[in-house]
Amino acid sequence: MSQKVEFLYLQEEDLIEAGVLNMKECVDTIESMFHLIGKGDYMMGGPNRNDHGLMLWFNKEEPFENMPKAGPDRRFMSLISYLGGDFNVIGNKWYGSNIENLNNGLPRSVHTFTLNDKDTGAPLAIMAGNLISSMRTGAVPGVVSKYLAKKDAKVIGAVGGGAINQSCIEAIITSIDSIEKVVLFDINLEKGKQIASKLEQLFNIPIEVVDDLDRCIKQSDIVTVATSGKIKPQIKAESMKPGSLIILTGAADLSDGVYANARIVSDLWSMHEKWLEDGLAHPDGLSSIRDWTMSGQLLELIHNGEFDSSTVDDIGDIITGRKTGRKSDDEVIICMTGGLPTEDVAWAYKVYQNALKKNVGTVLPLWESSYLTK
Ligand SMILES: NC(=O)c1ccc[n+]([C@@H]2O[C@H](COP(=O)([O-])OP(=O)(O)OC[C@H]3O[C@@H](n4cnc5c(N)ncnc54)[C@H](O)[C@@H]3O)[C@@H](O)[C@H]2O)c1
Repeated sequence: MSQKVEFLYLQEEDLIEAGVLNMKECVDTIESMFHLIGKGDYMMGGPNRNDHGLMLWFNKEEPFENMPKAGPDRRFMSLISYLGGDFNVIGNKWYGSNIENLNNGLPRSVHTFTLNDKDTGAPLAIMAGNLISSMRTGAVPGVVSKYLAKKDAKVIGAVGGGAINQSCIEAIITSIDSIEKVVLFDINLEKGKQIASKLEQLFNIPIEVVDDLDRCIKQSDIVTVATSGKIKPQIKAESMKPGSLIILTGAADLSDGVYANARIVSDLWSMHEKWLEDGLAHPDGLSSIRDWTMSGQLLELIHNGEFDSSTVDDIGDIITGRKTGRKSDDEVIICMTGGLPTEDVAWAYKVYQNALKKNVGTVLPLWESSYLTK
């Protein structure tokens, strides 16, 4: 007998009603997810089960007029994963990114997310993915700061004031009680000022806007970097405060001394290593991953034998106690967070559960009775 299949459709407004913007709950959820990663109760794509996702790579020149061409932050990506524990569910985030969107009233990237039953494969929910994605991305620096920031960190340095870094700032403020101010550097000074006045009201914290990156880095205990576009922020070793925690959610250009004198932590280093393989397999070589990965520069050093990759620790291992957290008040820690597909699954599942409890969203049929079972 054919079974009816239906799923919950959640548009962005439904997600807001279901609590997608609750940063405290999101940070707690992402922390639980890292516990599961540390224990190994997850699966991501690819035979090594640690792939970030499958990407449509665009080239600068294409033989067909309509084919999308390469541009800054231009890509399509599908991030698939299973997450265990109480989540016990499978999901897929599917997005397209194009920096031109910002001139056309759209966010830089547009996301949809699907949650699936792990046994039947049937969709449980299909939802707008942007807020799931920006919240989970921001929550990671919140969790990382909780475990790796020095005690009594007071100043957050924010490099880039876009959607993602706004979320990172909120998560760090939510997670670290001692924060007293934010210093924001955005390459677009006017945009930086607008964002600062919006965030000051939202978070009730002073935000100083600076027109010089060094001034931002020099006074910050926790630095969060999330910029887009061609010009990567150049962060110098001599500008970093002793004991600072630098969280790279987007790419940055770090001076040579940085890698020699800092400890490197990542969200899941085996995922970053897969990017090295991808870059080496691409016709443009490693330059193909430098634009959009925060670890590209380090991966190149590793490939050239100039950095020992076995020294990189995963945050899941630190959270589960298998690796040591901060080792001294002066230790400079660089955390590279590439974004795990399981983060989307974790937060989307939590918000889906909240939507079911609150009776939010629209139930839609996939079919009343499957044609193929008749
Ligand atoms: N690691 C993850 O999990 C993850 C997830 C989502 C997005 N990201 C990355 O986060 C980054 C930011 O995404 P977004 O959606 O906020 O982008 P966005 O385009 O909305 O905002 C980027 C901001 O950075 C500013 N900027 C650009 N170059 C700068 C520079 N050199 N110095 C200072 N500011 C600069 C821009 O003016 C803009 O305000 C992207 O690189 C994206 O790939 C990472």
